[in-house]
Amino acid sequence: MNKSHHLLGLGACLSLISIKLRRYRRLIRSQQAASLPQRYNLKGLIEGSMTKLLLNGQPVDFLLDPQTPLLWALRDTANLTGTKYGCGKGYCGACTVMVDKVAVRSCQVPLETVEGAEVVTIEGLASDAGHPVQRAWLHLQVPQCGYCMPGMIMAAAALLEDRPEPTDADIEEHMTNLCRCGAYPRVRHAVLLAAELKARSSQGTSEIPAADTEN
Ligand code: FES
Ligand code: FES
Repeated sequence: MNKSHHLLGLGACLSLISIKLRRYRRLIRSQQAASLPQRYNLKGLIEGSMTKLLLNGQPVDFLLDPQTPLLWALRDTANLTGTKYGCGKGYCGACTVMVDKVAVRSCQVPLETVEGAEVVTIEGLASDAGHPVQRAWLHLQVPQCGYCMPGMIMAAAALLEDRPEPTDADIEEHMTNLCRCGAYPRVRHAVLLAAELKARSSQGTSEIPAADTEN
């Protein structure tokens, strides 16, 4: 066999190796894509089914797996990180948001179940922190570490939607969120003050009641 035959053979070998390498790279890429979280593809785009809802007053389409917990759609996709992750099991209430004016624990709500609903998070409660619940919370300096507070505030706002004049028993029954700092007495006081502020704002006044100005 002469020198040119050797060169031809070497060239054929090299092109075969290059074809196999290309196939191998394609295989690795497809395996990497399959192991990524289902809601993202390799281009960083979101994939899955479309869920449409009204989020803090804006129409939003989520292209996610329909079983994605609402909490993760809000935090990871919509970047609304005011809603907190606590237990992930429906116990603590740190993830509470309002769906059609009802408090829900968003870690337990599959995205598909809020199709067409109105979802409000702590970011959407009021543009200027002027919601009566927020005003009461600020006035009474309710938070300690603050971690549970977005959920507490959303639970309180939903309670006032349903019971504008809540009794202690109503608060006991509806405010089941957990607070590791033990701010429960201030939470109870703030819910009652928020109810008063809400009633006053419907009468056109925004003053804090005299009984609460000494706190
Ligand atoms: S994180 Fe949802 S209830 Fe605890
Ligand atoms: S204020 Fe710290 S967990 Fe409630």
